[in-house]
Amino acid sequence: MQTTQLTESSLLPLVPAYDSILALAPYQTGKPIEELTREYGISDVVKLASNENPMGCSPQVTLAVTEQLGQLSRYPDGNGYYLKQALADFNDVNVEQITLGNGSDDLLDILARSFVGIDDAIVYSQYAFVVYSMLAKMQGAMDIEVPAHRFGHDLKAMSQAVQDNPNTKVVFIANPNNPTGTQLGHKELHQFVASVPSSVLVVLDEAYIEYSPESNNRALLDEFDNVVIVRTFSKAYGLAGLRVGYALSSVPVADLLNRIRQPFNVSRIGLAAAAAALADQDFIEKTRLTNDEQMRWLEKQFDALGLGFVKSYANFIMVEVQVEMEDISAASIHQALLEQGVIVRPLTAYGLPNWLRITVGMAEENLRLIDTLRSILTED
Ligand SMILES: Cc1ncc(COP(=O)(O)O)c(C=O)c1O
Repeated sequence: MQTTQLTESSLLPLVPAYDSILALAPYQTGKPIEELTREYGISDVVKLASNENPMGCSPQVTLAVTEQLGQLSRYPDGNGYYLKQALADFNDVNVEQITLGNGSDDLLDILARSFVGIDDAIVYSQYAFVVYSMLAKMQGAMDIEVPAHRFGHDLKAMSQAVQDNPNTKVVFIANPNNPTGTQLGHKELHQFVASVPSSVLVVLDEAYIEYSPESNNRALLDEFDNVVIVRTFSKAYGLAGLRVGYALSSVPVADLLNRIRQPFNVSRIGLAAAAAALADQDFIEKTRLTNDEQMRWLEKQFDALGLGFVKSYANFIMVEVQVEMEDISAASIHQALLEQGVIVRPLTAYGLPNWLRITVGMAEENLRLIDTLRSILTED
């Protein structure tokens, strides 16, 4: 999408609610396959740019979706009774602790709108999911970005940032983190949560939890009322196109979030599909095993190509592709890959201009990526 610099005068006589809204840049999504086909006339496209599940979703989902097709004139259950019941059993929480969202982005937005006002602050890490800083700008709040430690969250520095900024209302932590793939230990997270005032909401964004079950911090909910865990059906469950996510929290927090959310924020098809997907944990196990195997293969190929990468606990990996001696930049490699039908994610918007984020695909997709990358890197 073409964007121009917005200024207050270009909107006059209209004025946005907060000046910080003018500083917002639209979220850059992974390039859709259809767009590449349209622009370059390539039909055989491999998309490794949005951390989607290359295996698709559970076959049970098709059945559940089909059953809903005769009911499309009816509103969905605004309370998501069956999905919430299944999520409560799965996560060993009460139904009253759950809030459903139109994807987990919706929940991050609901959390910010519920707790963050003008002149409050949101704390997050450098190289963390870009939506956190966008939410601060949307709310007219301060965004406090804490320098990362070896591409991951520096929780001690984040705790200090909360102390230094008594107006902090929410801390966002992605674990594993997107785009760096780093993971935090239970002990350090526990220490962090214990170190911040109970008036500060700590949001643990566990979008990639299924790829790294040891980063499940569900236990923190039993101890701390100011912890919220946000999860999604978009990644391992393979339902990115349907938009379903959920938050686990204390009952009063869930009560508030449920007042703020749109009454029918998850569609009839989304509710049914998510319940069917959750019930098929064999599919999730297969997804995890395939991802692990392919991740190890990719790591070996990057080693062989002499490319640095950050060890990832999710379904994507960040690779350093700047080859200064040969004057090859990440931007030029990204473009060359696009022209050959392989979509990956540039990370300039994250302040990582020498890196690309690559979603782990199926074996044949990864082979195509590596072959294409090798031919670009060895071109005269
Ligand atoms: C860390 C993290 N959180 C949340 C999301 C939002 O996902 P969705 O809105 O599809 O659930 C993403 C998507 O890329 C993500 O990487």
